[in-house]
Amino acid sequence: MRAVQVSEYVKGPLDLKVSTIPTPAPAADKYLIEIHSAGTNFFDILQIQGKYQHQPPLPWVGGSEFAGTIAAVPSASSSPKFKVGDRVFGAIQGAYATHVLAPEASLLPVPQGWSFEDAAGLFVTAPTSYGALVHRAGVKAGDWVLVHAAAGGVGLAAVQIAKAKGATVIATAGTQRKRDIAKEFGADYVIDYTDKAWPEEVKKLCAAKREGNGKAGVDIVYDPVGMIDTSLKCVAWNARLLVIGFAAGKIEKVALNRVLLKNVSLVGIHWGQYARFETETVGEVWKGIFGLVAKGQFRGTAFKDESFVGLESVPRALQALGGRETWGKVVVNVVGEKAKSRL
Ligand SMILES: NC(=O)c1ccc[n+]([C@@H]2O[C@H](COP(=O)([O-])OP(=O)(O)OC[C@H]3O[C@@H](n4cnc5c(N)ncnc54)[C@H](OP(=O)(O)O)[C@@H]3O)[C@@H](O)[C@H]2O)c1
Repeated sequence: MRAVQVSEYVKGPLDLKVSTIPTPAPAADKYLIEIHSAGTNFFDILQIQGKYQHQPPLPWVGGSEFAGTIAAVPSASSSPKFKVGDRVFGAIQGAYATHVLAPEASLLPVPQGWSFEDAAGLFVTAPTSYGALVHRAGVKAGDWVLVHAAAGGVGLAAVQIAKAKGATVIATAGTQRKRDIAKEFGADYVIDYTDKAWPEEVKKLCAAKREGNGKAGVDIVYDPVGMIDTSLKCVAWNARLLVIGFAAGKIEKVALNRVLLKNVSLVGIHWGQYARFETETVGEVWKGIFGLVAKGQFRGTAFKDESFVGLESVPRALQALGGRETWGKVVVNVVGEKAKSRL
């Protein structure tokens, strides 16, 4: 098979090379999948540089999110959930390749009517945002939700989920293009958070459009950037602030007196660990997401301003992602035209 194999750590994505290595043999406990599209994540960039918390022994194939078709079922399983030819998406080490082996727990069926491209970016972002907003913050109709970096991977998922649950969404993003995208995916209001006065903008909106305690600010903050401390300036009584990530690169410190004074909750989520500590919630979260998909309330967020075709485009795709040039999910079409003809 062809794969972006890492034999030694590289300085950056543009040093990555595509090579030909043996296709994995069908396994007793795993499915063999023919990959059509691979999603990119910031942690892929850290991993190729040897800077990520999970570094397999060299050599290994980069990438983790993918969508494709089942090429072989686990030989030891008497009742496999998927059959040869089924369209699946999932995440496992080694997605920047034409083939990968994955256990059943890392696979889900591609939603009806979805392309491989959209499905390849679903496995990490959608459940993170659904788990955070629905299970951790208890979002409900009438809430006002502030989504930071709203045009990013988890951000665009959060905008759609909050809207589907009946909330009003204020989206922040750093460029006009990204703010337009957030609006296109349902945000009610957009704010440029590169302007330091953005919390004032949020307060003004809430004062003008909300009633009672809501006049002071939003009920939920969804923060993948590291902006909790500043966001505390524009929250309502009983607000929940979701700590999703630190895309700005700094783990911030928060003035806890504000947490007390405003009667608010700081709430973390580590989605990847639900499979270990809270498996029952994993099923509920996916049931919720597939429900929104079926009702047309959640759609794929694959980045469309540039296309990445073939494994040779993985370096450029990762460069664009790392350079903050993109919105939604940056997806590489691993097999090019062939993938389209199989939809
Ligand atoms: N808690 C969890 O379980 C979980 C799960 C998945 C992801 N995450 C984390 O969530 C964060 C966002 O993930 P994502 O997949 O949405 O990433 P992404 O698609 O790359 O989006 C990140 C966004 O952050 C904004 N940003 C602000 N400062 C930045 C900086 N210095 N460098 C790069 N981007 C910056 C950018 O928007 P603007 O250009 O508009 O500012 C960018 O669109 C990451 O830290 C990730 O590790 C957490």
